[in-house]
Amino acid sequence: MHRVTLTQYLIEQQRNYGKVSPELRLLIEIIARACKAISHAVSKGPLAGVGDAVGTHNVQGEAQKKLDVIANEVLVEANEWGGHLAAMMSEEMATPYTIPHRYPKGGFLLVMDPLDGSSNLDVNISVGTIFSVLRCPEGVTEPDEKAFLQPGVKQVAAGFAVYGAATILVLTVGNGVVGFTLDREMGSFLMTQERIVIPEDTQEFAINASNARNWEPPVKRYIDECLAGKTGPRGKDFNMRWVASMVADVYRILSRGGIFMYPRDAKYNDGRLRLMYEANPMSFIVEQAGGAATNGRQRILEIQPRALHQRVGVILGSKNEVECVTRYHLQA
Ligand code: F6P
Repeated sequence: MHRVTLTQYLIEQQRNYGKVSPELRLLIEIIARACKAISHAVSKGPLAGVGDAVGTHNVQGEAQKKLDVIANEVLVEANEWGGHLAAMMSEEMATPYTIPHRYPKGGFLLVMDPLDGSSNLDVNISVGTIFSVLRCPEGVTEPDEKAFLQPGVKQVAAGFAVYGAATILVLTVGNGVVGFTLDREMGSFLMTQERIVIPEDTQEFAINASNARNWEPPVKRYIDECLAGKTGPRGKDFNMRWVASMVADVYRILSRGGIFMYPRDAKYNDGRLRLMYEANPMSFIVEQAGGAATNGRQRILEIQPRALHQRVGVILGSKNEVECVTRYHLQA
């Protein structure tokens, strides 16, 4: 069976829709190549000590695993020399990484979470890489933090890789969402989902229920109504899933629908997930797949970031459910 490769897809997007310039194609192909290298490293598991702590902490105060550091290095090294980027930032770096002077500079900014869900590494559960691409503001030659502080609606591309039983790459360049699976023998990403669409309705929710005592009333109301099942106000039974790897939870929602919530609560006043490299790319992808993404009160993609590592409450997935939780927040 002939399958479309990532390169073919990107060239067709350029030819047919003018969506992907050669510079953006290079950027996405380099990220895909880096994801292959990370996938290979993840698959070595305990043989390579992937889940071992390295004794350092990232800017969020989270203990870094060996593979957090490796994944960040792989992405930085792969992306610094190609001439397509002006700067990059990552969960693992306190400040933006500007392209060294020995390399040419390009017009894009890359924002990334090199290894999302890395607390799952020790237990052989899926982890992933999330990325978001912004344009470097006009006239800025040495991009600092300010250059990155653009709302999610400004993203030109976003995607993520899930390193699970198969390695899957999900991508949007603003023209729908496609999924590729890594063919390990060929070494290429082949299209396996041509147009991902999230069903508007769902009977599956994902939330870390151990935080229930800290939830705000609208979230508590929504989950209580789901738990009440057929005889409750929603009139249907719900199922629950929580992988605790955002990449895996969002991939499930893209595949069969569902709602994912890491809302702001009494413990995480600003939410737990990061706006720039988790919430924004995932919200762009989810909206492009026909779903919705809010912080309970506002569309995530319209939030003006104030800081690189800012956190935000996240409610995303099947449109009708996200709208229901958002309505409960606005009524409260
Ligand atoms: O931000 C990292 C992350 O691991 C996400 O991938 C995931 O959704 C969440 O944190 C899991 O949080 P918790 O440990 O509260 O289940």
